[in-house]
Amino acid sequence: MAQYLINYLERKSKINKEIYGNFTEHLGRCIYDGIWVGKDSVIPNINGVRKDIIDAFKEIKVPVLRWPGGCFADQYHWKDGIGSIEQRKRIVNKTWGNAVEDNSFGTHEFMDMCEEIGCDAYIAGNLATGSIQEMLDWIEYITGDGDSEMANLRRKNGREEPWKLTWFGIGNEVWGCGGEMMPDYYVNQYRQAYHFLSQKGFMTSSSLKFIASGPGSDDYEWTDKVTDGLTTQTYCMSQIKSDPLMDGLSFHHYVFGGDGYFNLRRAREFDEKEWYDIIRKAAETEELITRHDTVMTRHDPEKKVGLMIDEWGAWYGSEEGTNPAFLFQQNTMCDAILAAVYLNIFNKHSDRIKLATIAQAVNVLQSVVLTEGEKMILTPTYYVFELFKKHQDAVLLGSYMENREIGVDEVKVNNLFESSSIDADGNVAATICNTSIDSSEQIETTLFGAEIESIKARILAQDAHACNTFEEPENVVIKDFDVICSGNRIDFEIPAGSIVELSIKVK
Ligand code: AHR
Repeated sequence: MAQYLINYLERKSKINKEIYGNFTEHLGRCIYDGIWVGKDSVIPNINGVRKDIIDAFKEIKVPVLRWPGGCFADQYHWKDGIGSIEQRKRIVNKTWGNAVEDNSFGTHEFMDMCEEIGCDAYIAGNLATGSIQEMLDWIEYITGDGDSEMANLRRKNGREEPWKLTWFGIGNEVWGCGGEMMPDYYVNQYRQAYHFLSQKGFMTSSSLKFIASGPGSDDYEWTDKVTDGLTTQTYCMSQIKSDPLMDGLSFHHYVFGGDGYFNLRRAREFDEKEWYDIIRKAAETEELITRHDTVMTRHDPEKKVGLMIDEWGAWYGSEEGTNPAFLFQQNTMCDAILAAVYLNIFNKHSDRIKLATIAQAVNVLQSVVLTEGEKMILTPTYYVFELFKKHQDAVLLGSYMENREIGVDEVKVNNLFESSSIDADGNVAATICNTSIDSSEQIETTLFGAEIESIKARILAQDAHACNTFEEPENVVIKDFDVICSGNRIDFEIPAGSIVELSIKVK
Protein backbone atom coordinates (compact mmCIF):
# COMPACT_ATOMS: atom_id res chain seq x y z
CA MET A 1 0.00 0.00 0.00
CA ALA A 2 1.35 3.46 -0.93
CA GLN A 3 -0.03 6.77 0.26
CA TYR A 4 -0.34 9.43 -2.45
CA LEU A 5 -1.07 13.04 -1.60
CA ILE A 6 -2.05 15.69 -4.12
CA ASN A 7 -2.06 19.17 -2.65
CA TYR A 8 -4.63 21.24 -4.54
CA LEU A 9 -3.47 24.36 -2.73
CA GLU A 10 0.22 24.08 -3.64
CA ARG A 11 0.62 25.65 -7.07
CA LYS A 12 4.06 25.36 -8.63
CA SER A 13 5.40 26.09 -12.10
CA LYS A 14 3.49 26.10 -15.37
CA ILE A 15 4.02 22.91 -17.36
CA ASN A 16 4.72 24.36 -20.81
CA LYS A 17 2.87 22.40 -23.45
CA GLU A 18 6.12 22.35 -25.45
CA ILE A 19 7.42 19.67 -23.06
CA TYR A 20 5.24 17.27 -25.08
CA GLY A 21 6.97 17.92 -28.41
CA ASN A 22 8.36 15.60 -31.05
CA PHE A 23 11.46 15.51 -33.20
CA THR A 24 11.41 14.87 -36.98
CA GLU A 25 14.83 14.20 -38.47
CA HIS A 26 15.97 13.20 -41.95
CA LEU A 27 17.12 9.87 -40.60
CA GLY A 28 16.16 6.45 -41.88
CA ARG A 29 12.42 6.29 -42.56
CA CYS A 30 11.31 9.22 -40.42
CA ILE A 31 10.66 11.65 -43.29
CA TYR A 32 10.88 9.66 -46.53
CA ASP A 33 8.77 6.49 -46.40
CA GLY A 34 7.42 7.79 -43.10
CA ILE A 35 5.82 11.19 -42.69
CA TRP A 36 6.27 12.13 -46.35
CA VAL A 37 4.69 10.07 -49.12
CA GLY A 38 4.27 12.80 -51.74
CA LYS A 39 1.13 14.35 -53.14
CA ASP A 40 0.62 11.63 -55.77
CA SER A 41 0.72 8.75 -53.31
CA VAL A 42 -2.20 6.33 -52.97
CA ILE A 43 -1.76 6.73 -49.24
CA PRO A 44 -4.17 9.45 -48.08
CA ASN A 45 -2.16 12.60 -47.55
CA ILE A 46 -2.42 16.32 -47.06
CA ASN A 47 0.01 18.03 -49.40
CA GLY A 48 2.18 14.91 -49.38
CA VAL A 49 2.19 14.30 -45.62
CA ARG A 50 0.37 11.17 -44.42
CA LYS A 51 -3.06 12.11 -43.15
CA ASP A 52 -3.12 9.33 -40.55
CA ILE A 53 0.06 10.76 -39.02
CA ILE A 54 -1.35 14.30 -39.02
CA ASP A 55 -4.50 13.02 -37.31
CA ALA A 56 -2.49 11.03 -34.77
CA PHE A 57 -0.36 14.09 -33.93
CA LYS A 58 -3.46 16.27 -33.57
CA GLU A 59 -5.03 13.73 -31.23
CA ILE A 60 -2.15 13.95 -28.73
CA LYS A 61 -1.88 17.69 -29.34
CA VAL A 62 1.75 17.65 -30.47
CA PRO A 63 2.70 21.24 -29.58
CA VAL A 64 6.02 21.56 -31.38
CA LEU A 65 8.04 19.70 -34.02
CA ARG A 66 11.81 20.04 -34.31
CA TRP A 67 13.35 19.63 -37.80
CA PRO A 68 15.48 18.81 -39.87
CA GLY A 69 17.89 17.22 -37.33
CA GLY A 70 19.86 16.28 -35.22
CA CYS A 71 23.16 15.65 -36.94
CA PHE A 72 21.42 15.91 -40.31
CA ALA A 73 20.82 19.61 -39.62
CA ASP A 74 24.57 20.17 -39.40
CA GLN A 75 24.93 19.33 -43.09
CA TYR A 76 21.59 20.61 -44.40
CA HIS A 77 21.38 23.51 -46.81
CA TRP A 78 17.80 24.71 -46.90
CA LYS A 79 17.92 26.20 -50.38
CA ASP A 80 18.28 22.63 -51.74
CA GLY A 81 14.72 21.99 -50.53
CA ILE A 82 12.71 24.82 -52.11
CA GLY A 83 11.25 25.48 -55.55
CA SER A 84 9.70 22.95 -57.90
CA ILE A 85 10.05 19.48 -56.37
CA GLU A 86 11.11 17.93 -59.68
CA GLN A 87 14.03 20.30 -59.96
CA ARG A 88 15.33 20.05 -56.44
CA LYS A 89 18.88 18.88 -55.94
CA ARG A 90 19.48 15.28 -54.93
CA ILE A 91 21.74 14.92 -51.94
CA VAL A 92 23.47 12.13 -50.07
CA ASN A 93 22.56 11.98 -46.39
CA LYS A 94 26.13 11.38 -45.23
CA THR A 95 25.20 11.30 -41.58
CA TRP A 96 22.64 8.55 -41.88
CA GLY A 97 23.66 5.70 -44.16
CA ASN A 98 24.43 7.68 -47.33
CA ALA A 99 20.76 7.55 -48.26
CA VAL A 100 20.02 9.53 -51.40
CA GLU A 101 17.34 12.15 -50.80
CA ASP A 102 15.51 14.09 -53.49
CA ASN A 103 14.75 17.00 -51.17
CA SER A 104 11.03 16.69 -51.88
CA PHE A 105 10.43 17.41 -48.20
CA GLY A 106 11.80 20.89 -47.53
CA THR A 107 10.87 24.13 -45.84
CA HIS A 108 7.42 24.53 -47.47
CA GLU A 109 6.46 20.95 -46.70
CA PHE A 110 7.61 21.18 -43.08
CA MET A 111 6.04 24.55 -42.36
CA ASP A 112 2.75 23.57 -44.04
CA MET A 113 2.69 20.36 -42.00
CA CYS A 114 3.14 22.30 -38.75
CA GLU A 115 0.35 24.63 -39.78
CA GLU A 116 -1.94 21.68 -40.54
CA ILE A 117 -1.18 20.05 -37.18
CA GLY A 118 -1.51 23.38 -35.41
CA CYS A 119 1.89 23.09 -33.72
CA ASP A 120 4.93 25.32 -33.38
CA ALA A 121 7.81 24.90 -35.79
CA TYR A 122 11.30 24.51 -34.32
CA ILE A 123 14.06 24.71 -36.91
CA ALA A 124 17.60 23.62 -36.12
CA GLY A 125 19.96 25.95 -38.00
CA ASN A 126 23.21 24.79 -39.57
CA LEU A 127 26.08 26.47 -37.77
CA ALA A 128 28.54 23.75 -38.71
CA THR A 129 28.75 23.59 -42.51
CA GLY A 130 26.41 26.49 -43.14
CA SER A 131 26.85 30.18 -42.52
CA ILE A 132 25.20 32.98 -40.61
CA GLN A 133 24.00 34.40 -43.92
CA GLU A 134 22.34 31.09 -44.77
CA MET A 135 20.49 31.04 -41.44
CA LEU A 136 19.58 34.69 -41.82
CA ASP A 137 18.14 34.03 -45.29
CA TRP A 138 16.19 31.03 -43.98
CA ILE A 139 14.50 33.05 -41.25
CA GLU A 140 13.74 35.83 -43.70
CA TYR A 141 12.36 33.32 -46.22
CA ILE A 142 9.99 31.86 -43.64
CA THR A 143 8.93 34.95 -41.73
CA GLY A 144 9.54 37.96 -43.95
CA ASP A 145 6.52 39.97 -45.00
CA GLY A 146 8.23 42.95 -46.60
CA ASP A 147 9.55 43.55 -50.08
CA SER A 148 12.76 41.64 -49.43
CA GLU A 149 14.66 39.21 -51.60
CA MET A 150 13.96 36.10 -49.53
CA ALA A 151 10.31 36.93 -48.86
CA ASN A 152 9.83 37.46 -52.58
CA LEU A 153 11.53 34.17 -53.36
CA ARG A 154 9.05 32.45 -51.02
CA ARG A 155 6.17 34.17 -52.83
CA LYS A 156 7.58 33.06 -56.17
CA ASN A 157 7.61 29.51 -54.79
CA GLY A 158 3.92 29.67 -54.02
CA ARG A 159 3.55 30.92 -50.47
CA GLU A 160 2.30 34.48 -50.18
CA GLU A 161 1.96 34.86 -46.41
CA PRO A 162 4.84 34.26 -44.04
CA TRP A 163 4.63 31.25 -41.75
CA LYS A 164 4.86 31.47 -38.00
CA LEU A 165 8.25 30.29 -36.85
CA THR A 166 8.58 30.05 -33.08
CA TRP A 167 11.90 28.37 -32.29
CA PHE A 168 15.30 28.49 -33.94
CA GLY A 169 18.32 26.48 -32.80
CA ILE A 170 21.76 27.93 -33.42
CA GLY A 171 23.66 24.70 -33.98
CA ASN A 172 23.02 21.11 -32.97
CA GLU A 173 25.39 19.11 -30.76
CA VAL A 174 28.16 21.50 -31.68
CA TRP A 175 30.47 19.61 -29.31
CA GLY A 176 30.03 16.51 -31.53
CA CYS A 177 28.50 16.05 -34.97
CA GLY A 178 27.88 19.78 -35.15
CA GLY A 179 31.54 20.71 -35.43
CA GLU A 180 33.45 19.35 -32.39
CA MET A 181 33.68 22.86 -30.96
CA MET A 182 35.00 23.83 -27.54
CA PRO A 183 32.58 25.80 -25.36
CA ASP A 184 34.43 29.14 -25.58
CA TYR A 185 34.61 28.91 -29.34
CA TYR A 186 30.91 28.06 -29.56
CA VAL A 187 29.97 30.97 -27.33
CA ASN A 188 31.69 33.33 -29.75
CA GLN A 189 30.13 31.65 -32.77
CA TYR A 190 26.69 31.79 -31.18
CA ARG A 191 27.01 35.43 -30.15
CA GLN A 192 28.06 36.44 -33.61
CA ALA A 193 25.15 34.54 -35.20
CA TYR A 194 22.65 35.77 -32.63
CA HIS A 195 23.67 39.36 -33.18
CA PHE A 196 22.37 39.18 -36.74
CA LEU A 197 19.60 36.59 -36.45
CA SER A 198 17.87 38.40 -33.63
CA GLN A 199 17.55 41.63 -35.58
CA LYS A 200 13.90 41.88 -36.43
CA GLY A 201 14.03 44.19 -39.46
CA PHE A 202 12.47 41.85 -42.01
CA MET A 203 10.36 39.77 -39.68
CA THR A 204 6.63 39.74 -39.09
CA SER A 205 6.90 38.09 -35.75
CA SER A 206 8.96 39.40 -32.90
CA SER A 207 8.48 36.19 -30.96
CA LEU A 208 11.20 34.04 -32.52
CA LYS A 209 13.00 32.27 -29.71
CA PHE A 210 16.57 31.06 -29.86
CA ILE A 211 17.98 27.83 -28.50
CA ALA A 212 21.69 27.31 -27.93
CA SER A 213 23.41 23.97 -28.28
CA GLY A 214 23.70 22.60 -24.78
CA PRO A 215 25.40 19.70 -23.08
CA GLY A 216 25.19 16.01 -23.80
CA SER A 217 24.36 14.07 -20.63
CA ASP A 218 26.67 15.08 -17.75
CA ASP A 219 28.87 17.76 -19.31
CA TYR A 220 28.36 20.39 -16.61
CA GLU A 221 31.38 22.38 -17.74
CA TRP A 222 29.66 22.94 -21.07
CA THR A 223 26.53 24.19 -19.33
CA ASP A 224 28.57 26.45 -17.09
CA LYS A 225 30.65 28.07 -19.82
CA VAL A 226 27.86 28.43 -22.36
CA THR A 227 25.32 29.78 -19.89
CA ASP A 228 27.89 32.21 -18.54
CA GLY A 229 28.89 33.31 -22.04
CA LEU A 230 25.32 33.76 -23.22
CA THR A 231 23.97 35.64 -20.23
CA THR A 232 26.59 38.34 -20.47
CA GLN A 233 26.34 41.23 -22.91
CA THR A 234 29.58 42.66 -24.21
CA TYR A 235 29.55 46.24 -25.27
CA CYS A 236 32.71 48.21 -26.10
CA MET A 237 34.95 45.90 -24.06
CA SER A 238 32.83 46.05 -20.93
CA GLN A 239 30.89 43.01 -19.80
CA ILE A 240 27.55 43.33 -18.10
CA LYS A 241 24.99 40.80 -17.01
CA SER A 242 21.78 41.44 -18.83
CA ASP A 243 18.95 39.65 -20.58
CA PRO A 244 20.20 36.28 -21.79
CA LEU A 245 21.10 35.94 -25.46
CA MET A 246 19.16 32.67 -25.59
CA ASP A 247 15.68 31.52 -24.61
CA GLY A 248 16.77 27.97 -24.08
CA LEU A 249 19.79 25.73 -23.72
CA SER A 250 19.29 22.37 -25.35
CA PHE A 251 20.10 19.15 -23.52
CA HIS A 252 20.25 15.72 -25.15
CA HIS A 253 19.81 12.57 -23.17
CA TYR A 254 19.39 9.04 -24.44
CA VAL A 255 19.27 5.83 -22.45
CA PHE A 256 21.01 2.96 -24.19
CA GLY A 257 19.71 -0.59 -23.99
CA GLY A 258 22.34 -3.19 -23.13
CA ASP A 259 25.95 -2.25 -22.39
CA GLY A 260 25.86 1.16 -23.97
CA TYR A 261 26.05 2.69 -27.42
CA PHE A 262 28.61 0.21 -28.79
CA ASN A 263 26.90 -2.91 -27.48
CA LEU A 264 23.20 -2.34 -27.85
CA ARG A 265 20.48 -4.90 -27.31
CA ARG A 266 17.27 -4.77 -29.32
CA ALA A 267 14.08 -3.22 -27.99
CA ARG A 268 12.30 -6.51 -27.32
CA GLU A 269 15.34 -8.41 -26.05
CA PHE A 270 15.32 -7.88 -22.32
CA ASP A 271 15.04 -9.87 -19.15
CA GLU A 272 13.88 -8.69 -15.75
CA LYS A 273 17.21 -7.10 -14.86
CA GLU A 274 17.43 -5.24 -18.17
CA TRP A 275 13.87 -3.96 -17.71
CA TYR A 276 14.93 -2.34 -14.46
CA ASP A 277 18.27 -1.25 -15.89
CA ILE A 278 16.78 0.90 -18.65
CA ILE A 279 14.09 2.36 -16.39
CA ARG A 280 16.73 3.16 -13.77
CA LYS A 281 18.78 4.96 -16.42
CA ALA A 282 15.72 7.05 -17.34
CA ALA A 283 15.08 7.82 -13.67
CA GLU A 284 18.68 8.96 -13.22
CA THR A 285 17.99 11.76 -15.69
CA GLU A 286 16.46 13.62 -12.78
CA GLU A 287 19.86 14.03 -11.16
CA LEU A 288 21.34 15.34 -14.43
CA ILE A 289 18.49 17.83 -14.79
CA THR A 290 18.87 19.02 -11.21
CA ARG A 291 22.61 19.51 -11.61
CA HIS A 292 22.38 21.30 -14.96
CA ASP A 293 19.67 23.49 -13.44
CA THR A 294 21.93 24.31 -10.48
CA VAL A 295 24.76 25.29 -12.81
CA MET A 296 22.43 27.41 -14.96
CA THR A 297 21.02 29.10 -11.89
CA ARG A 298 24.49 30.50 -11.07
CA HIS A 299 24.27 32.63 -14.21
CA ASP A 300 20.50 32.82 -14.62
CA PRO A 301 18.95 32.91 -11.14
CA GLU A 302 15.58 34.07 -12.44
CA LYS A 303 15.33 31.04 -14.70
CA LYS A 304 14.78 33.08 -17.84
CA VAL A 305 16.58 30.43 -19.88
CA GLY A 306 14.81 27.11 -20.31
CA LEU A 307 16.49 23.74 -20.35
CA MET A 308 15.23 22.29 -23.64
CA ILE A 309 15.48 18.51 -23.75
CA ASP A 310 15.16 18.42 -27.49
CA GLU A 311 16.39 14.86 -27.92
CA TRP A 312 15.47 12.15 -25.44
CA GLY A 313 14.39 8.55 -25.26
CA ALA A 314 15.55 4.95 -25.51
CA TRP A 315 18.15 3.90 -28.04
CA TYR A 316 18.39 0.21 -28.90
CA GLY A 317 19.98 -1.88 -31.63
CA SER A 318 18.18 -1.71 -34.97
CA GLU A 319 15.54 -4.35 -35.67
CA GLU A 320 16.77 -7.45 -37.47
CA GLY A 321 16.74 -7.13 -41.25
CA THR A 322 16.72 -3.32 -41.26
CA ASN A 323 19.51 -0.94 -42.28
CA PRO A 324 21.56 -0.37 -39.08
CA ALA A 325 22.15 3.27 -40.10
CA PHE A 326 18.40 3.88 -40.09
CA LEU A 327 18.03 3.21 -36.34
CA PHE A 328 14.60 1.60 -36.64
CA GLN A 329 13.45 0.08 -33.37
CA GLN A 330 10.27 -1.45 -31.94
CA ASN A 331 8.56 -0.05 -28.90
CA THR A 332 7.29 -2.09 -25.95
CA MET A 333 5.54 -1.52 -22.64
CA CYS A 334 9.02 -1.03 -21.19
CA ASP A 335 9.35 2.07 -23.40
CA ALA A 336 5.95 3.28 -22.28
CA ILE A 337 7.09 3.06 -18.64
CA LEU A 338 10.34 4.79 -19.55
CA ALA A 339 8.44 7.62 -21.26
CA ALA A 340 6.13 7.98 -18.26
CA VAL A 341 9.11 8.17 -15.91
CA TYR A 342 10.76 10.84 -18.09
CA LEU A 343 7.60 12.92 -18.56
CA ASN A 344 6.73 12.87 -14.87
CA ILE A 345 10.27 14.07 -14.14
CA PHE A 346 9.97 16.81 -16.79
CA ASN A 347 6.70 17.99 -15.23
CA LYS A 348 8.31 18.12 -11.79
CA HIS A 349 11.13 20.28 -13.17
CA SER A 350 8.96 22.51 -15.31
CA ASP A 351 10.33 25.57 -13.53
CA ARG A 352 13.45 25.03 -15.68
CA ILE A 353 12.42 22.63 -18.47
CA LYS A 354 10.47 24.62 -21.04
CA LEU A 355 10.52 22.31 -24.06
CA ALA A 356 11.26 18.67 -24.86
CA THR A 357 11.08 16.73 -28.11
CA ILE A 358 11.29 12.94 -28.09
CA ALA A 359 13.53 11.30 -30.70
CA GLN A 360 12.18 10.61 -33.27
CA ALA A 361 8.51 10.95 -34.10
CA VAL A 362 8.25 8.24 -36.76
CA ASN A 363 10.13 4.99 -37.60
CA VAL A 364 13.40 5.68 -35.77
CA LEU A 365 14.32 5.56 -32.06
CA GLN A 366 11.55 5.87 -29.44
CA SER A 367 8.93 6.70 -32.04
CA VAL A 368 5.28 7.39 -31.35
CA VAL A 369 4.28 6.18 -34.83
CA LEU A 370 5.54 3.33 -37.04
CA THR A 371 4.62 2.84 -40.69
CA GLU A 372 4.88 0.06 -43.24
CA GLY A 373 3.54 0.84 -46.68
CA GLU A 374 -0.05 1.93 -46.22
CA LYS A 375 -0.19 0.73 -42.63
CA MET A 376 0.43 2.87 -39.59
CA ILE A 377 0.53 1.87 -35.94
CA LEU A 378 0.65 3.84 -32.73
CA THR A 379 3.27 2.67 -30.25
CA PRO A 380 2.89 2.26 -26.47
CA THR A 381 4.92 5.49 -26.17
CA TYR A 382 2.25 7.28 -28.25
CA TYR A 383 -0.37 6.28 -25.70
CA VAL A 384 1.72 7.74 -22.88
CA PHE A 385 1.57 11.12 -24.63
CA GLU A 386 -2.21 10.62 -24.85
CA LEU A 387 -2.44 9.87 -21.11
CA PHE A 388 -0.31 12.90 -20.23
CA LYS A 389 -1.86 15.46 -22.56
CA LYS A 390 -3.96 17.14 -19.86
CA HIS A 391 -0.73 18.37 -18.27
CA GLN A 392 -0.07 20.62 -21.28
CA ASP A 393 -0.08 24.25 -20.10
CA ALA A 394 -1.49 23.22 -16.72
CA VAL A 395 0.12 24.21 -13.41
CA LEU A 396 2.15 21.65 -11.51
CA LEU A 397 0.70 20.78 -8.10
CA GLY A 398 2.65 19.72 -5.05
CA SER A 399 2.28 15.94 -4.82
CA TYR A 400 3.97 13.24 -2.78
CA MET A 401 4.07 9.48 -3.34
CA GLU A 402 5.24 6.91 -0.82
CA ASN A 403 7.90 4.93 -2.58
CA ARG A 404 10.24 1.98 -2.24
CA GLU A 405 13.19 0.71 -4.23
CA ILE A 406 12.73 -2.37 -6.36
CA GLY A 407 14.85 -4.18 -8.93
CA VAL A 408 17.28 -7.04 -9.42
CA ASP A 409 20.65 -7.26 -7.64
CA GLU A 410 22.37 -3.84 -7.72
CA VAL A 411 19.93 -2.43 -10.31
CA LYS A 412 17.41 -0.49 -8.25
CA VAL A 413 14.75 2.09 -9.04
CA ASN A 414 11.73 3.61 -7.27
CA ASN A 415 8.57 1.62 -7.85
CA LEU A 416 6.24 4.59 -8.41
CA PHE A 417 6.58 7.86 -10.38
CA GLU A 418 3.90 10.51 -10.58
CA SER A 419 3.04 14.12 -11.22
CA SER A 420 -0.17 16.09 -10.99
CA SER A 421 -1.42 19.40 -12.34
CA ILE A 422 -4.36 21.75 -12.32
CA ASP A 423 -5.83 23.13 -15.54
CA ALA A 424 -7.40 26.53 -16.23
CA ASP A 425 -10.84 25.23 -15.12
CA GLY A 426 -9.48 24.07 -11.78
CA ASN A 427 -9.59 20.35 -12.63
CA VAL A 428 -6.78 18.01 -11.71
CA ALA A 429 -4.84 15.47 -13.78
CA ALA A 430 -2.47 12.95 -12.23
CA THR A 431 -0.30 10.43 -14.04
CA ILE A 432 1.12 7.53 -12.05
CA CYS A 433 3.35 4.77 -13.27
CA ASN A 434 4.31 1.50 -11.63
CA THR A 435 7.80 0.42 -12.69
CA SER A 436 7.54 -3.06 -11.19
CA ILE A 437 7.66 -5.82 -13.80
CA ASP A 438 5.62 -8.20 -11.67
CA SER A 439 3.90 -6.55 -8.68
CA SER A 440 0.81 -4.43 -8.53
CA GLU A 441 0.52 -1.78 -5.82
CA GLN A 442 -2.46 -0.56 -3.84
CA ILE A 443 -2.53 3.26 -3.90
CA GLU A 444 -4.51 5.38 -1.48
CA THR A 445 -4.79 8.88 -2.94
CA THR A 446 -5.86 11.94 -0.98
CA LEU A 447 -6.75 15.17 -2.72
CA PHE A 448 -6.00 17.84 -0.13
CA GLY A 449 -7.71 21.22 -0.28
CA ALA A 450 -10.60 20.52 -2.68
CA GLU A 451 -13.75 18.44 -2.96
CA ILE A 452 -14.04 15.86 -5.70
CA GLU A 453 -17.13 16.08 -7.89
CA SER A 454 -16.32 13.20 -10.23
CA ILE A 455 -13.39 11.17 -11.42
CA LYS A 456 -12.44 9.31 -14.57
CA ALA A 457 -9.41 7.06 -14.91
CA ARG A 458 -7.63 5.44 -17.85
CA ILE A 459 -4.84 2.91 -17.97
CA LEU A 460 -2.12 1.60 -20.27
CA ALA A 461 -1.31 -1.93 -19.11
CA GLN A 462 0.03 -4.99 -20.87
CA ASP A 463 2.80 -7.57 -20.55
CA ALA A 464 6.32 -6.19 -20.31
CA HIS A 465 7.32 -7.24 -23.84
CA ALA A 466 4.02 -6.31 -25.45
CA CYS A 467 4.10 -4.01 -28.44
CA ASN A 468 1.89 -3.09 -31.36
CA THR A 469 2.75 -4.68 -34.69
CA PHE A 470 1.37 -4.33 -38.20
CA GLU A 471 -0.32 -7.72 -37.69
CA GLU A 472 -1.64 -6.84 -34.22
CA PRO A 473 -1.94 -3.06 -34.20
CA GLU A 474 -4.12 -2.79 -31.09
CA ASN A 475 -2.36 -5.10 -28.71
CA VAL A 476 -1.44 -2.19 -26.44
CA VAL A 477 -4.13 0.47 -26.14
CA ILE A 478 -5.57 2.70 -23.44
CA LYS A 479 -8.55 1.35 -21.52
CA ASP A 480 -10.93 2.80 -18.96
CA PHE A 481 -9.93 1.98 -15.41
CA ASP A 482 -12.05 1.59 -12.29
CA VAL A 483 -11.14 3.45 -9.13
CA ILE A 484 -13.07 3.80 -5.87
CA CYS A 485 -13.77 7.34 -4.81
CA SER A 486 -15.15 8.38 -1.46
CA GLY A 487 -14.95 11.94 -0.16
CA ASN A 488 -11.57 13.24 -1.17
CA ARG A 489 -10.02 9.76 -1.29
CA ILE A 490 -9.36 7.67 -4.37
CA ASP A 491 -8.35 4.02 -4.05
CA PHE A 492 -7.05 1.77 -6.78
CA GLU A 493 -4.61 -1.03 -7.45
CA ILE A 494 -2.13 -0.13 -10.17
CA PRO A 495 -1.07 -3.27 -12.08
CA ALA A 496 2.57 -4.19 -12.65
CA GLY A 497 4.26 -2.21 -15.41
CA SER A 498 1.37 0.13 -16.09
CA ILE A 499 0.47 3.81 -16.27
CA VAL A 500 -2.71 5.31 -14.86
CA GLU A 501 -4.21 8.72 -15.59
CA LEU A 502 -6.66 10.24 -13.11
CA SER A 503 -8.87 13.11 -14.31
CA ILE A 504 -10.48 14.70 -11.29
CA LYS A 505 -13.32 17.18 -11.60
CA VAL A 506 -13.38 19.43 -8.59
CA LYS A 507 -16.57 20.96 -7.03
O1 AHR B 1 18.79 11.03 -32.74
C1 AHR B 1 19.91 10.59 -33.43
C2 AHR B 1 21.07 11.54 -33.28
O2 AHR B 1 21.47 11.60 -31.95
C3 AHR B 1 20.82 12.98 -33.63
O3 AHR B 1 20.90 13.20 -35.00
C4 AHR B 1 21.91 13.68 -32.91
O4 AHR B 1 21.65 15.02 -32.62
C5 AHR B 1 22.16 12.81 -31.71
O5 AHR B 1 23.49 12.54 -31.52
